Amino acid sequence: MSTDRQTADRHPGRLAVPAVRELSPYVPGKPISELEREFGIRDIVKLASNENPYGPSPHTLAAMRAALDQVWLYPDGSCHDLKQGLARHLGVDADCLTLGNGSNDLLVLLAEAFLTPSHSAVFSQYGFALYPLVTRETGAQAIEVPALGYDSDMPLGHDIAAMTAAIAPNTRLVFVANPNNPTGTWAPPATVKRLLEQSPSSTLLVLDEAYFEYGHARGTQDGVAWLAEHPNLVILRTFSKAYGLAGARVGYAISHPEVAEVLNRLRPAFNVNSPAQAGALAALADQAHMRQAVDRTMRELARVEAEFKRLGRWTAPSAANFLLLRLDGPAAPVFEQLLRRGLIVRPLAGYGLANCLRISIGLSQDNDRLLAALPQVLAASAA
Ligand SMILES: Cc1ncc(COP(=O)(O)O)c(C=O)c1O
Repeated sequence: MSTDRQTADRHPGRLAVPAVRELSPYVPGKPISELEREFGIRDIVKLASNENPYGPSPHTLAAMRAALDQVWLYPDGSCHDLKQGLARHLGVDADCLTLGNGSNDLLVLLAEAFLTPSHSAVFSQYGFALYPLVTRETGAQAIEVPALGYDSDMPLGHDIAAMTAAIAPNTRLVFVANPNNPTGTWAPPATVKRLLEQSPSSTLLVLDEAYFEYGHARGTQDGVAWLAEHPNLVILRTFSKAYGLAGARVGYAISHPEVAEVLNRLRPAFNVNSPAQAGALAALADQAHMRQAVDRTMRELARVEAEFKRLGRWTAPSAANFLLLRLDGPAAPVFEQLLRRGLIVRPLAGYGLANCLRISIGLSQDNDRLLAALPQVLAASAA
């Protein structure tokens, strides 16, 4: 007892529950301000967090500014107007929706609501980093299924058949990112549908469609059509990517109303602030702006992809706003050299992909800067 007291006196962090003590935190892309402080450089381009460099429309920004006048009031905790707007846009009932502080928030809520140490969750190797994190923080068993090999049609992608086979009687959640981050890979709708049909009703399929608006152009599913028949389907979407509102933090889940009711029970009352609610609603009404950003990004993606190929480099097939680039050796020195030139990309050693970088597609001039710097840095490091 006294030893416990002595430890706690000096190391209060050790009082955390065992599952949390063992967690490694999520490492986000390096912020521009941090690089400015570290190297004293300006004119930095961030291609590290799959943001949308075209940003929100003037109409969306005006709605957010107008909401600031009321910022002394708590936000509408039920997100009524935004829910109604989303319900109309998606063709679902408003009681199927749960709003989150980014879809990140909803991943945490899903794990808290459905996982305990006697449950398990299934996800893919190279799947989005938050899946193991939210699973492990509940003490549940994390079942990581090996990804498809480099020789497959969708190298590094989810092996949906193997994921289906990995579902155990105690599996409550299966996480499928389609398209996936950090690989950009995707599974065709028929394959995802088969997983849904073969999943037991005691297992929820969390279909993470964070890059839905980009992926749809390359034939990824619109899972909403499957909800009526599959009460165990939960779709996650976000305003952080195609809608250009990553800093506002708005994501949403579309699910059976009972699942939404459970998530809404757990959700902190004011998890989406009022400028964010106003911005998301305005952004939804401005589909043309979003579509233009997606089209420009997908055209740039094709250009950057072709340039990498011309340089003799391998990239994973991508249906999102970024590319996974494989180098011949460790990517860390290349990442460091790009930083010194004011270019922030994402190293992937944390995913077990030490020879790879994830590069978000920026504005044309930002991509040009990367394409000019990369051959020089590669020649210097021979990676
Ligand atoms: C696949 C995937 N899901 C969810 C998220 C979380 O996004 P947000 O919390 O900004 O909605 C991300 C962010 O990069 C992502 O890549």
